[in-house]
Amino acid sequence: MHAAQKRQVYLDYSATTPVDQRVLDAMLPYFRETFGNPSSAHRYGKAAQQAVEAARQTLARLLHCRESEIVFTSGGTESDNLAIRGVAHASRDKGNHIITSQVEHAAVLKTCRLLEKEGFAVTYLPVDSHGRVDPDLVAGAIRKETILISIIHGNNEVGTINPIQEIGAIARQHGIPFHTDAVQSFGKVPLNLEEMPIDLLSLSSHKIYGPKGVGALFIRRGTPIQPILTGGGHEMGKRAGTHNVPGIVGLARAAEIMITEMASERREIGALRDYFWEQLRKRIDNVVLNGHPENRLYHNLNVSFPGCDGEALLMALDMFGIAVSTGSACQSGSVEPSHVLKAMGLENDRGTSALRFTLGRYTTREDIDYTLEVLEQVVPQQRQAQRKRP
Ligand SMILES: Cc1ncc(COP(=O)(O)O)c(C=O)c1O
Repeated sequence: MHAAQKRQVYLDYSATTPVDQRVLDAMLPYFRETFGNPSSAHRYGKAAQQAVEAARQTLARLLHCRESEIVFTSGGTESDNLAIRGVAHASRDKGNHIITSQVEHAAVLKTCRLLEKEGFAVTYLPVDSHGRVDPDLVAGAIRKETILISIIHGNNEVGTINPIQEIGAIARQHGIPFHTDAVQSFGKVPLNLEEMPIDLLSLSSHKIYGPKGVGALFIRRGTPIQPILTGGGHEMGKRAGTHNVPGIVGLARAAEIMITEMASERREIGALRDYFWEQLRKRIDNVVLNGHPENRLYHNLNVSFPGCDGEALLMALDMFGIAVSTGSACQSGSVEPSHVLKAMGLENDRGTSALRFTLGRYTTREDIDYTLEVLEQVVPQQRQAQRKRP
């Protein structure tokens, strides 16, 4: 342990989460005892297939959709890729225009950029200062060639929740498939696919206390989709590759726990996050909240500490055992705010001094109190050091 470190505090639950013990317990039999290939015809295969189908049933029940509408993938990135490339490539004869936003995850943005090289046209909608996409802008961007609308549900950096019900309704009026990246929101915000006008929805297991490397894509019946991974006939021909059976079992168990405990976690983690923000404002001057003040994921606190350098602050907190994220990235030698903060208009100091704190199932009041104490010490020091820099 570093001399400065008195505790270990993990406040980066949006990056990933530890696997819940209950999830691990559910997965373990599928590594050695029930290890068969679900595609095999014998009893080993059948047992593994039953586990995959039970997991599919669970997810379908939790999302209020059909089992045949769930496709297991290797995670959020693949789900986003399958949704976007899959629909784009299956709809070439109908048109070449895609609508998305400037605050999507790279799994969406970079996929769209590559599709542009293939001749697709993409509209990247701007957002307001809270990082929210305006449904009217979506409606205004629709052309007769539009074949897909993809808008993130809960933003991974600033936690802002987009009005996907309204956006989906607009898409539906025009008969355009609507995809949403719900990797950060699934299990935190209620989602009912029977009632919501969503045609494709991405989720990932490692954000909900499940294992890494597994996720799912909901594809509403009738949505045009071309596979991106070809091979065997797995997943109804939509995603080839031998199933990650322990991973899929873990994803379903993790999802079940998230939904069962959604109300209590929202209350408890939300209260801790609110306490954190209230105390931060009291104890450190000039702190600014990024993202929507109310309409945001309950575990997210994205704060700018003007006068500080976010990267240096992150490293200082790490010395004290506290793990957080920044809202910036080093691009060609100079520190730039992330694309999300830039899209929200935070071009400068407010963007480069932003830290993302994301709380979770194992965060305690003591963790927050310790983090506050450390910030109270480190932020003024860093501000002073920054001022002294030539
Ligand atoms: C909003 C969002 N989409 C997609 C992903 C990618 O998910 P995965 O890590 O499972 O590939 C992430 C992960 O950071 C995310 O936050």
